[in-house]
Amino acid sequence: MNVAEFLKPDTWFTAHAGPRYVQLRHRLEEAINMGILPPNSSLPPEREIAEITDLSRVTVRKAIHELVKTGMVEQRQGSGSFVRAPVARVEQSLSHLTSFTEDMKSRGLETTSRWLERGVFLPSPEEMMMLGLPSGSSVARIYRLREAGDQPMALERASLPLDILPNPVEVTVSLYDVLERSGNRPVRAAQKISAVNLTPEDAALLGVAEGAAGLSIQRISYLESGRVVEVTKSVYRGDAYDFVAELRLSD
Ligand code: GLP
Repeated sequence: MNVAEFLKPDTWFTAHAGPRYVQLRHRLEEAINMGILPPNSSLPPEREIAEITDLSRVTVRKAIHELVKTGMVEQRQGSGSFVRAPVARVEQSLSHLTSFTEDMKSRGLETTSRWLERGVFLPSPEEMMMLGLPSGSSVARIYRLREAGDQPMALERASLPLDILPNPVEVTVSLYDVLERSGNRPVRAAQKISAVNLTPEDAALLGVAEGAAGLSIQRISYLESGRVVEVTKSVYRGDAYDFVAELRLSD
């Protein structure tokens, strides 16, 4: 069955069964769940849905907006509304000190970054404390949206002492590669993971619904000498990651 037939109102619209946009939203959800509108397919234009269903464009827009809010549909600038494809989950070990680029490469995925900030700044009191910076020093910051196989995965905000990363712009793909080249790749790290609901801004960047579940991860990495190399605060998509750890009975 095609979408136009599926949306014909005589089979699903009931005058007294609640708001029109809610009924249309449910019908569109059914179309998505049944695969009549498969992942990545585009929804018919608003005008066309309005014609088929005999509903106003305002009602159609409201129904689609609801689906965007739940994350089932995404709006792509200039090209309309699309059914969001479920993301492939990534299993991430908690016991290896690897970089994002390495993690994705081991799964056959190419990584790309969208740069949100990259440069030298005056450190915040928190950065000074966590990185052990002397007063009057600067900090290197890189903030990026990390993507794998064209899928947004995480937002990462890293702060490093300037003598460890004198030129943040040098980081184009992998931060750990750049640190490795200067002999500053961390050898140990402590990581804290907590659950968060994504803020509207973070959700928009990660391409998920506002308030969706996310994992906030803070990594503090050290050199052999015990010096802190990196403090990174990341927000990972909750629907894309499974963190796994091997546990042993201590002796
Ligand atoms: C992981 C860690 C970050 C680290 C990053 C380095 O994502 N959570 O703390 O900065 O890897 O990744 P890459 O070398 O790909 O830039």
